[in-house]
Amino acid sequence: MRMYDIIHKKRDGESLSKQEIAYVVKGFTEGTIPDYQMSALAMAIYFRGMSPEETAELTLSMAQSGDQIDLSEIAGNKVDKHSTGGVGDTTTLVLLPLVASVGVPVAKLSGRGLGHTGGTIDKLEAIPGFSIELSESQFVDHVNRYGCALIGQTGTIAPADKKLYALRDVTATVDSIPLIASSIMSKKIASGADSIVLDVKTGDGAFMKTLEGSFDLAKAMVDIGTNIGRNTIGVISSMDQPLGLAIGNALEVKEAIDTLRLEGPADLTELCLLLGSYMLVATGHAADAAAAKQMLKDSLESGKALETFRRFLEAQGGNPAVVDDPSLLPQAKRHVPVVLDRSGYVASIHAEEVGTCAMLLGAGRETKESEIDLAVGIVLHKKIGDQVAAGEPIATLHVSDERKLSEVIARLQAAYVLTDHAQQAPALVYGVVS
Ligand code: URA
Ligand code: CA
Repeated sequence: MRMYDIIHKKRDGESLSKQEIAYVVKGFTEGTIPDYQMSALAMAIYFRGMSPEETAELTLSMAQSGDQIDLSEIAGNKVDKHSTGGVGDTTTLVLLPLVASVGVPVAKLSGRGLGHTGGTIDKLEAIPGFSIELSESQFVDHVNRYGCALIGQTGTIAPADKKLYALRDVTATVDSIPLIASSIMSKKIASGADSIVLDVKTGDGAFMKTLEGSFDLAKAMVDIGTNIGRNTIGVISSMDQPLGLAIGNALEVKEAIDTLRLEGPADLTELCLLLGSYMLVATGHAADAAAAKQMLKDSLESGKALETFRRFLEAQGGNPAVVDDPSLLPQAKRHVPVVLDRSGYVASIHAEEVGTCAMLLGAGRETKESEIDLAVGIVLHKKIGDQVAAGEPIATLHVSDERKLSEVIARLQAAYVLTDHAQQAPALVYGVVS
């Protein structure tokens, strides 16, 4: 087999065989296929696309390029949840204990934040003592004992994807649906879950800005899961504004605790109930989404979900007292209100800009090497549809390093668009693909 012929074939719009795809992934991972040939193939895929069968083969080959987590020692149907990335997306912190509390094991591998989006590991590390350093056998043991556990996703999971993503990033081939779908799903498949629920974000703050692109991506990922024998459900949810009210690591931990107490923001609570209910449906734990939602609501109301969170934190070294006293979380030096000089109704909030503002305050990383401040971030007081009076705070900044404060205030003010007419809150979920 020759890489030249494979590039030629895809350039002309033909389908690649299972053997050809396996040859490419192996050669590229081992370094026998050079970056320039892989770049040419990625560009040919960008223009010509891939069939669902080719995409599933690419996913499987990349999943098998490194370590694969063996969860067979955990009884039951293990479920994973993945978000394509948003601003202030606090769902994982709520869903992990919530779903575990009704008896569905959650074994989660997560990442750190980059750019305008946050990462679950950073958020959990805001809890004093919490550690993601568990061995694979401890990880399995914790899920069996406490119902859920979370570790960091290392470079030994799907190394082929890691290398290909870095190449796509510099060759303008990131935004290809078969390449994105196989990239995300290769890591999910290698992480070992039997069932996968995908939260595909759409809108200004999301990776996929259009509804059509988001549905296509969800369908491509559900097709891969189905092809490979994992129950997969895709939910297309709105990132037209940040989710919930808090953006920033410790602030989002507090928001998750509030939500587990049924005192959290309505949109975050609703999305967690919806994603959670599909996690129960995907694992066969509930007959339908309505029955599943009731089980989850009961767990929130009885305090069981909050208790599961407490035990999960304690098991991974975190101080469980933060659940009753969130002031034990890192606190910023100053709170700075942000106001507008006009009144009206909030028509839109540029989610990506709000994410960038949080990053500039130190809550997120500008580059992989940046140090972050777990205490800082933004708490919004106004969301789409709310009425605002001139001089009334739209948000409070939690600040420690003031160097970029005036820039952040100006950018946050500009991220809010007001109108004179009453506005409806936007849809939270646009559809479900299964
Ligand atoms: N996230 C991924 O993991 N891979 C992509 O290709 C895009 C987003
Ligand atoms: Ca939030």
